[in-house]
Amino acid sequence: MKQLLIVAHAPSPNTLRLRAAAECGADHPDIDAVSVVVKAPFDAGPDDVRACDAILLGTTENLGYMSGALKDFFDRSYYPVLEEKQGLPCALYIRAGLDGTGTRRAVESIVTGLRWRWVQEPLILHGEWQESFVEKVEELAMAMAAGLEAGIL
Ligand SMILES: Cc1cc2nc3c(=O)[nH]c(=O)nc-3n(C[C@H](O)[C@H](O)[C@H](O)COP(=O)(O)O)c2cc1C
Repeated sequence: MKQLLIVAHAPSPNTLRLRAAAECGADHPDIDAVSVVVKAPFDAGPDDVRACDAILLGTTENLGYMSGALKDFFDRSYYPVLEEKQGLPCALYIRAGLDGTGTRRAVESIVTGLRWRWVQEPLILHGEWQESFVEKVEELAMAMAAGLEAGIL
């Protein structure tokens, strides 16, 4: 059994829906050989990263940067997993009111340092809320879980 870890900050009803969509996509009934663990960033740490085979990150953009919650997760996890988890398949979604690029740059820089491996382009969901955001996150998570099951991530 492979494990997909979803670490996503969800401070609003919309972002809670995005995190639920990620879980729902990853937990697709046709995908049997992947277990899904969903955590808020403050509840996740290096043990969760060590235990997973791929990671999906989710954050809001706050003041031009990732949420403090996701940054705290990286602060606590970076050095403990640095050697062991190089090459970890990862993906990211960002919910931003306007922009999202500062957050993308910041997470990319940390992921480069960790030597994790992007398996999809970061997904930026910016502007007015759109129902299609839910579907996009669900598809992203489903593609990750399916890739993990197929051994192609
Ligand atoms: C303190 C604060 C700072 C924010 N800063 C940014 C920002 O720099 N760029 C941006 O695009 N959105 C910014 N936002 C908007 C949030 O990203 C947005 O409210 C959040 O993703 C929740 O989206 P929702 O309204 O769809 O639930 C900020 C929101 C708050 C509360």
